[in-house]
Amino acid sequence: MSSDADVAQEATRRRTFAVISHPDAGKSTLTEALALHAHAIAEAGAVHGKGSRRGVVSDWLDMEQSRGISITSAALQFTVDDVVLNLLDTPGHADFSEDTYRVLSAVDCAVMLLDASKGLEPQTLKLFEACRARRTPVITVINKWDRPGQEPLALLDEIQDRLGITPTPLNWPVGIAGDFRGVVNPQTGGMTQYTRTPGGATLAGREELDADEAARRHGVDWETATEELDLLHSSGQVHDQETFLAAMTTPVLFTAAVLNFGVAELLDTAAQIAPPPSAWVDVEGTARPVDADFSGFIFKVQTGMDRSHRDRVAFMRVCSGKFERGAVLTHAATGRPFPTKYAQSVFGRERETIDEAFPGDVVGLVNAHALNVGDTLHAGPAVTYPPLPRFTPEHFATARIRDTGRSKQFRRGIEMLDQEGVVQVLVSDRRGAQSPVLAAVGPMQFEVASHRLQHEFGAEIVLEPLSYALAQRVSAEAAPTVDRTHGAEVLERTDGVLVALFVNRWRLGSVAADLPEGSLMPMLGSGEVLGT
Ligand code: G4P
Repeated sequence: MSSDADVAQEATRRRTFAVISHPDAGKSTLTEALALHAHAIAEAGAVHGKGSRRGVVSDWLDMEQSRGISITSAALQFTVDDVVLNLLDTPGHADFSEDTYRVLSAVDCAVMLLDASKGLEPQTLKLFEACRARRTPVITVINKWDRPGQEPLALLDEIQDRLGITPTPLNWPVGIAGDFRGVVNPQTGGMTQYTRTPGGATLAGREELDADEAARRHGVDWETATEELDLLHSSGQVHDQETFLAAMTTPVLFTAAVLNFGVAELLDTAAQIAPPPSAWVDVEGTARPVDADFSGFIFKVQTGMDRSHRDRVAFMRVCSGKFERGAVLTHAATGRPFPTKYAQSVFGRERETIDEAFPGDVVGLVNAHALNVGDTLHAGPAVTYPPLPRFTPEHFATARIRDTGRSKQFRRGIEMLDQEGVVQVLVSDRRGAQSPVLAAVGPMQFEVASHRLQHEFGAEIVLEPLSYALAQRVSAEAAPTVDRTHGAEVLERTDGVLVALFVNRWRLGSVAADLPEGSLMPMLGSGEVLGT
């Protein structure tokens, strides 16, 4: 048995984070480079499944492979010095889904990865908002500095102006975007010079130069870099741990992930300044310290990861205490015992049995049929963490089984996808149970749902998009009136919430005007929901 002190110590050396970025900013490349630097893998290329490289970690669904997108997420763990880094993979597709938010609910810090030539892109902004709502500290990484891009000062201004968060550079690039020589290292006052290695397949060459040597070798580029950094520092844009943790400032680093430039700096930064796990607050508002009895939160459920076993993996973030495989925990939602014999670490296709885990770690519980997203497992005194919010859907379609002989499989599949949060499921007497309305935050959720129903449940569906664009919660009193209105409809979500759909804002406005105040209420929006 380990003592509370051991657990506290293990928690203190954990850093649990996710990379948020717009597709193509280099998330997969950076993940691979981070793992390489942490010596988790011998050569870059073992993680990322693109091109000729060996795909091990992500892209395991057929659909993902054919489209080169990563829809699923799990966690990669590696150790740097004495710090254990848990990197949670967020879905990489352009579309926006609830799944990404769930992953963000399980991290203590985010790395916002920008493409130097593009700056802030739509997906980055949405994900940043999700972090802001949870007050998650964000480290900014400006990637692809080996390619022509924007001025570094302009990129920092954009962060300040559009995100309202003050960027505080931890280093500064020597050489314009497209000519990345190295970085000013404010700790030494000198320069870390990078050299390329063929294909970026091994660690990048690094050389520490003092200021004189840097000036001699890099002349005006060195001067420009030091002047710009001085300018920022003198205007107060200096890293401050307190404002960073309060998500008011964001430290900034520059990388060329494909060349492994700047990646070591990111690892060191994550190890040094990213916050360790802290006490989670339960539904009663009570904080459970990290060294209390075991508790964990299910932030994601995934079925069909292993075709041959038709399994269902529930991903649990350890919130407090020590997880020991084989222990029988309590499922807070039902009070039933939950045995943890099949606990694994899962990243893409790679799986390993996990025997123990500490706060901040992610455990994949295999064949966890009783567990749903938002559930709590615990030992000792009971605890229930607040469930994850559902998001306001913006896309709606009816789903119908093509072959009515497969109705049973269809119903089971829909129920499963609903529980996993792949889509929200809305039903009404009028439409009947055989024709539910699927509601999604982004339309790709429909594709995923349809693909999975067909391939995992043998239930091919016909999806008919509906012309609704807005959803509101509606009171039981007002529901019949709204349902009778042209251009509107009321359905029930599986959690019992009555949802009114409207074709447009105008229709919503006119319906609302005729109803008593409070009859229609906004569903939770992406920005506000995750606030604690
Ligand atoms: P994502 O997961 O965020 O979607 O991005 P991913 O890592 O797949 O990178 C997208 C493209 O950007 C890839 O090129 C990748 O090689 C490239 N890239 C990533 N980081 C850097 C960088 O620091 N510098 C440069 N120049 N390129 C970078 P691709 O041609 O789409 O794929 P691939 O065939 O190279 O794998």
